[in-house]
Amino acid sequence: MPARSSRLSGFYRLSVEERRKALLEVTDLSEEAVNALASADALTEEAADHMIENVVGRFVLPVGLATNFIVDGEEYLIPFVLEESSVVAAASNMARRCRDTGGFVSSNDPPIMIAQVQVLDVEDLDAAESAVMGAQEELMRMCNDRPSTMIRLGGGLKRMTCHRIPTDLGTMFVVHLHVDVRDAMGANAVNTMAELVAPRIESLTGGRVLLRILSNLATERMARIEARFSPESMSDDGDASQGAEVISGIIEAYHFAASDPYRAATHNKGVMNAISAVAIACGQDWRAIEAGCHAWAAVRTGRYASMTEWEIDDDGYLVGRLETPMAVGTVGGASRVHPTARACLELLGITSADRLAAVMAASGLAQNLGALRALSTSGIQAGHMRLHARNMAVSAGAVGPEIEEVAARLATWEGPRTQTTAEEILTMLRQGA
Ligand code: MEV
Repeated sequence: MPARSSRLSGFYRLSVEERRKALLEVTDLSEEAVNALASADALTEEAADHMIENVVGRFVLPVGLATNFIVDGEEYLIPFVLEESSVVAAASNMARRCRDTGGFVSSNDPPIMIAQVQVLDVEDLDAAESAVMGAQEELMRMCNDRPSTMIRLGGGLKRMTCHRIPTDLGTMFVVHLHVDVRDAMGANAVNTMAELVAPRIESLTGGRVLLRILSNLATERMARIEARFSPESMSDDGDASQGAEVISGIIEAYHFAASDPYRAATHNKGVMNAISAVAIACGQDWRAIEAGCHAWAAVRTGRYASMTEWEIDDDGYLVGRLETPMAVGTVGGASRVHPTARACLELLGITSADRLAAVMAASGLAQNLGALRALSTSGIQAGHMRLHARNMAVSAGAVGPEIEEVAARLATWEGPRTQTTAEEILTMLRQGA
């Protein structure tokens, strides 16, 4: 079950231990999952050694929770794994601002992944295409008549399409397998099918098969998310006219990214700050997701552009949309093997790939809005500096409430704000000054 409430006001002021306790009050998280979140050693060295080759150690990153999210009417506390400050805070902040309008609403595609079979030396492309299309039923049986949970649950090869790709080496014939992978990410399933049908495709086309591999441009597995923000919600003090000005700046910032690839790359990096962070937390192949998202950002309009769209509706509300390929899975892979990833999925209360895709897309849209809002108002350095001040306070030795106090004094400090300044402030604070 997702969280009973994701509106955890003051959560950021708690200690790490207190935050975990607070989690238990709003979720049904098991003790095992709490322990996995608490332990930097959740992934044992032995398990790590089985994951990749030549293992010499493990790498730990923070898990932070984005609060305030409502997606399709459900409350979600969303785990982000990343090293960059401000990302979790910005996503939580923007998610809070659309709670009054119902949060985020998704409409995702079914989980269809595409595998490509590259066929070379085909003499008659028309004949090859009709032979492959004529054998569709046979090839589908070949793939789907195997014992597989995915197929038992309604997945499997659903159709095939043929493509002609002009290249410097001449036209290549490429067969696409469109496979319903249910709740898996699906790479193994579709690669297996592509390898399975390859010899028969060779005999049908008279060609030579070379590559048999999935495409990360998962255009038939799109996640779509939308959210509306009132002008009041976009200002910090509920002032509608100030909020309308903020919205107008956001729209101007968006159109920059929609038209300029230099800006779009950075704009989309902000979206991926969240999508990849949730992907890592949930044990997903974030490189596959990144590849699909960026490729789509170029293919969609024929020119690399913004992954998101922002507009003002007839009521003066800001409306944001994100549509992007989202190849994620909740069965198989690291999502099952890595104890922290398992804990993060449990924390989300998610068992289906569709829900995970929706939550990830919502995080990406919120993150994008956070960046656009900051950039078009005070700039992002102010927020970064606040967090940086906290880090400096911690490095200076501040603990508990001292951290906020040292950071606040640093923020208004006249003169250079160095680590030594943070140490001096802490000393003064402890002396009662
Ligand atoms: C920084 O990690 C992300 C931003 O650069 C995104 C953006 O410019 O939209 C702030």
